Order: sequence, then structure tokens, then C-alpha cells
Amino acid sequence: MKVPFLDLLAMHTELASELDVAWRAVVQTSRFVGGPEVDTFEAEWAAFCGTRHCVGVSNGTVALELVLAGLGIGRGDDVIVPANTFIATASAVAAVGATPVFADVDPATLLVTSETIAAQLTERTAAIIVVHLYGQPADMDAINALAARRGLCVIEDAAQAHGATWHGRPAGGLSRAGCFSFYPGKNLGAFGDAGAVVTDDAGLAERIRVLSNHGRSHGDPYRHDALGGNERLDALQAAVLRVKLRNLPAWNEARRRVAGLYAEALAGLPVRLVSVAPGAVSSHHLAVIRSPRRDSLRAALAEVGIGTGIHYPIPCHLQAPFRAMRRPPLPVTEQAAAEILSLPMFPHMTEAQVWQVADAIAGFVAAPRQPVMEAG
Ligand SMILES: Cc1ncc(COP(=O)(O)O)c(C=O)c1O
Repeated sequence: MKVPFLDLLAMHTELASELDVAWRAVVQTSRFVGGPEVDTFEAEWAAFCGTRHCVGVSNGTVALELVLAGLGIGRGDDVIVPANTFIATASAVAAVGATPVFADVDPATLLVTSETIAAQLTERTAAIIVVHLYGQPADMDAINALAARRGLCVIEDAAQAHGATWHGRPAGGLSRAGCFSFYPGKNLGAFGDAGAVVTDDAGLAERIRVLSNHGRSHGDPYRHDALGGNERLDALQAAVLRVKLRNLPAWNEARRRVAGLYAEALAGLPVRLVSVAPGAVSSHHLAVIRSPRRDSLRAALAEVGIGTGIHYPIPCHLQAPFRAMRRPPLPVTEQAAAEILSLPMFPHMTEAQVWQVADAIAGFVAAPRQPVMEAG
């Protein structure tokens, strides 16, 4: 039996009839850009994140860019970002003309901490983007305290953390602004690209709304008070997201169960699960283990039909666009990049599938070593 890395079809089959009704309702109104479906989703997502405002946008990368632009961050500013993240966190900084400065991560959680951020502060630092990677919230108390002492802005990249909490408060609502991606494979995924910004700051929300809609303001479609772009959320995506949002808490709970089963099934094996910090409730977007023989383990799992991923094999500061920046090495991130492996994780994963993955890992560990070159 194969175990896919992710089974999106199972989620959509469960909701097929509700999704059909939602699509048809949008077609019936034929309001495809903006309109009531987008407004209602924005209100529901703001409520879910415990914030006053939500602006739906076209994807998670644009959400980050719009927040930075809306805060006036650009040329001459440094923005601290984790080296261990998807490249969009850093490319959004570069897109507004600012400079990403990469911070190392904690060896247990693989997230930035107030200490790894403090080590990268410069006189040009204007903001910190914290990424709740794999679905596990970073220590926002310590990071917000550091930022308050230094007068810096904190932004959350919560693209992997829909429904995660830090001391009971939802990810995305723990800083000046939270950015979400609704890429199809996320815990809350659209039928294409989509994203959102959540914030308590009414002025920032309005600036983002204006910038994402050709600089239009005052409800006048022919007046452009700013240079903006077309970065809006489509009504069809909003309709899909509204249906799936109703299931998000149950699906996150199912992921938690899968994570618990992995912890049980992998206990005693020489692979380490990435830890979740005390006070954090993860959304378990990804189930990440570490193995010094990652590449041969991945190949062995592929051979028996088990899908895996690597998030991420090349740290951001070593990617081509940023390599020339000549920063000191970031040893924790660099070692992790050679060892991390994301196991299958999705709400509809069965107990038998988890044990199948664990048994395959146990079999690999017990087998005599093959002469395969490992990365790193
Ligand atoms: C941590 C992180 N940040 C940003 C993004 C960018 O989101 P999008 O693909 O919607 O632009 C992603 C999505 O993959 C992500 O995982």
C-alpha cells in the first residue's frame, strides 16, 4: 500500500457537496472579484485569528510584501528573517527594496528565537519576520519583548500555522500583522493561489487594501491615490475557503492525532522529531524528523511507495539570490538542512498508514548500510 505525502482529494471528497453549492452560489451572483463572499471570508478569518481586520489577497508572498510596503519598509532597511524558511519570506523583503538579514534557529524547534534574532540586529533593522514553520508557533513573548525594547516591528509569517496557538492565542494575531498563504497544500488551502493579512491596525489594513487594488481608495474605482497592483482575493477562492474553514479545527485535531501516533511509533528509533515548544500548540502542517542518513532514508521510503518532502534542503541564505550577501555561517540551520525529512501528514491519514511509515523507517535503520553519499 502506498502512503502519499499529502492526500488533498480525501479532504475535497469529504466536502464535495458543500463545495459544489458554494461554487454555484458565486456563479449565481457572478461577483467574482471582491463582493460579499470575500467580505464574509475576511470577517470569518479575522474572527478565527482573533484580530479586528483581515484583508484577503492573491497569495502568501504578496501578503508579506503588502505588509512591509504598508509599514513603509523599503530601501535602507534591514529585516530579520529565519534562514530556515520557504524563500518567499526573504524574497518579499527584497521585493520591497529592503535587505533580508538571516537569523539562525533553535536546534530543537528549528525556529528563530529572541537570541538568534538579537545576534543579527543592526542599526538599520526595521522589522523582524517570525515564521511559525511546520505549524509550530515561535516564542512570541520573548520576540515581542525584544522588539519592544528596540522599537522594531514584528510580522508573523503564519503561512504554515493556520489554527496554531501560542499560550492559547492564535498564530497571526500575535504581532503587528500576520500573513497567511492558502496555497492548496496548506492546512487551509484554496483551489489555487490565495492569501490574507490579519491585523488589529485599521490604518495598516486600509493601506494594504488600497495597495492590493490598484491604489484605489474612497470607494471610487477611477481614483488612484497610491501606486498599487492587482493583488486581490477572488470570490471563488473565498467561497472554497469558507467551506473548508468550517472543517479546519477538526482537521487540525486529526493532524494532532497523527503527530501523536508518529511520536509513539518512532519512539526508540534513531530519528528525532522536531520538538514543539512548551506553550505552543502546533497546527502540524508538517511532520519533520531528523536523520543523519536523510537522503538514503528518503530513497528507501520512496522505494516502498512512501512520499516525503524536505522543508527546506537549501537554507535561504545559501540560495542563489542571497548567496552573494556574505554573512557568517548559520550552523544550526545548515546542519538541519542536511538532516530534515518531512513524513506524510494529512488529516485523513490512518493509524495503519502511520505504522507503515514507522515500520519502513525501522526496517531502514535495522538494514545493513548501503554506500550512499549523504548531503551536507
Ligand atoms: C513559510 C511560508 N511563507 C510564505 C509562503 C508563500 O505563500 P504563497 O505560496 O501563497 O505565495 C509559503 C508558502 O509556501 C510558506 O510556506
